[in-house]
Amino acid sequence: MKRRDFLKTGAIGITAPSAIFGDSNIIANKNNPIILSTYNHGLPANDAAWETLVNGGNAMDAAEAGARVTEADPTITSVGFGGLPDEQGNVTLDACVMDSSGNAGSVAFLQNIKHPVSVARKVMEDTKHVMLVGEGARQFAVSLGFEEMDLLTVESRQAWEEWEKNRREMTPHETHDTISVLVQDKNGDFAGACTTSGWAYKLHGRVGDSPIIGAGLFVDNEIGCAAATGLGEEVIKTTGSFLVVELMRQGYDPTVACEEALNRIIKAHNGTPDFQIGYIAIRKDGQIGSACLKWSFEYALARGGVNKLHKINGMI
Ligand code: GLY
Repeated sequence: MKRRDFLKTGAIGITAPSAIFGDSNIIANKNNPIILSTYNHGLPANDAAWETLVNGGNAMDAAEAGARVTEADPTITSVGFGGLPDEQGNVTLDACVMDSSGNAGSVAFLQNIKHPVSVARKVMEDTKHVMLVGEGARQFAVSLGFEEMDLLTVESRQAWEEWEKNRREMTPHETHDTISVLVQDKNGDFAGACTTSGWAYKLHGRVGDSPIIGAGLFVDNEIGCAAATGLGEEVIKTTGSFLVVELMRQGYDPTVACEEALNRIIKAHNGTPDFQIGYIAIRKDGQIGSACLKWSFEYALARGGVNKLHKINGMI
């Protein structure tokens, strides 16, 4: 249903999703899992997520498994092991997860732990909290047996040492950025995971959108899910992923919802933002969407046994 058709019904407030998408669509999506991830590093992440689903895992298991692939890859300089450090040379990691029941867990400013996404899941499942940060998050991870390690690689240390010579400010899109993995499993249930080392050479202590529920990731099992990549400060200020899901609730097509969330940022920057943000989204009926502010953006989509990279152009 198009937004204008929905609005024509005169419905106000929260509407049952079946009224928006139709029960038949939801049923049609059964047994047809979808995995949607950011960038080309989403391809191997999707493979791992798919394998997890095939082996009986649920959407949360799959999203975590996918994100862990990227976190472990030392060649990806914006996530996990090998992620570029802050201006002091410390690799500090942000991650979150959200499941189909609306449970959420997150870690921010976590150091020396290779898989922040798994720590975030433990926060969700083993504590009464949603978010742990910094030293407390590290201690929590170590108490659960997560191994501590130096997350700087030879290459990322060299890159930081080179950067130190003139300390040019970088933006997240220069180093690729967050992996977000959105999964809809065969039952139609959603989960998502989002993990990053953030803005390369950021101020020590900076936290981006990726561990903030509603900014970097949001899941509403009745409506859909969305995730963000790019300049986290702007995503936080617009509660970006929550906004995309709420727009889908109002009847927006997923891509139009992503575009509308970006329109708010374009307007706030007088039509000329000079940074990148991308959104990905899946709606309950299995329709996916994506949009980016500038240049181009790639997402990896796995469905029906095909895992493929898709490229979209920026809105401005
Ligand atoms: N989107 C990742 C960050 O801004 O840290």
